[in-house]
Amino acid sequence: MSSMIIGIAGGSGSGKTTVARKIADSLPPEGVTIIEHDAYYRDRADLTYEERCHINFDHPESLETELLVEHIVALKAGRRVAVPAYDFKTHRRLPEPRWVESTPVVIVEGIMVLVDQRLRSELDIKLFVDTDPDIRIFRRIRRDIEQRGRTFEAVREQYYRHVRPMHLQFVEPSKRRADLIIPEGGDNRVALDLVVSKLRSVIEQSRRDAR
Ligand code: CTP
Repeated sequence: MSSMIIGIAGGSGSGKTTVARKIADSLPPEGVTIIEHDAYYRDRADLTYEERCHINFDHPESLETELLVEHIVALKAGRRVAVPAYDFKTHRRLPEPRWVESTPVVIVEGIMVLVDQRLRSELDIKLFVDTDPDIRIFRRIRRDIEQRGRTFEAVREQYYRHVRPMHLQFVEPSKRRADLIIPEGGDNRVALDLVVSKLRSVIEQSRRDAR
């Protein structure tokens, strides 16, 4: 049986990572893989560090979505893939990829997973984590300063210049492409349980098929 692909979209800081982890942690570990669309940011080795800091990372063109689509097709066909590794501090792709095996359930997470038609058409279940902008921005400020090596001024500048306008242009309108909109993200136990019970039956079916 081909893998079932779950897309989790939502604005920056909406809690997509938490939702993806909570779903994955409720399933047998050998049955599920998480892939971040973020890992597919283009490696702009042609630019200096200074120039890379000013890339619009919230525009769909900044991601190599065509490679992600290729990888999903390969995983569905049972092949393993080399998912790029990305460093948010240097804005560069790291030399060593992460090898990912095909599993019955594959979760694909990112702000723009419902934006691109080719990617969308590979998704069997489309989720959108809907979290208020004030909560998202506070989470982002903290995360970017603590984990991505940014200053408060840099986060503020990027937010006004790219994150907010691109969110309104691309991410928010993609919500209407979702099958399910999840308010409260990772705290929404009812929504998570519904998704998990569907996925458990997919994994059980694939085990029966393999026998
Ligand atoms: N981004 C960045 N620098 C880069 C590449 C991406 O600042 N070199 C930012 C983009 O501006 C984009 C964000 O990364 O807005 C996408 O990550 P985000 O959705 O915030 O993180 P996740 O952990 O995937 O999501 P969540 O907070 O919902 O769990």
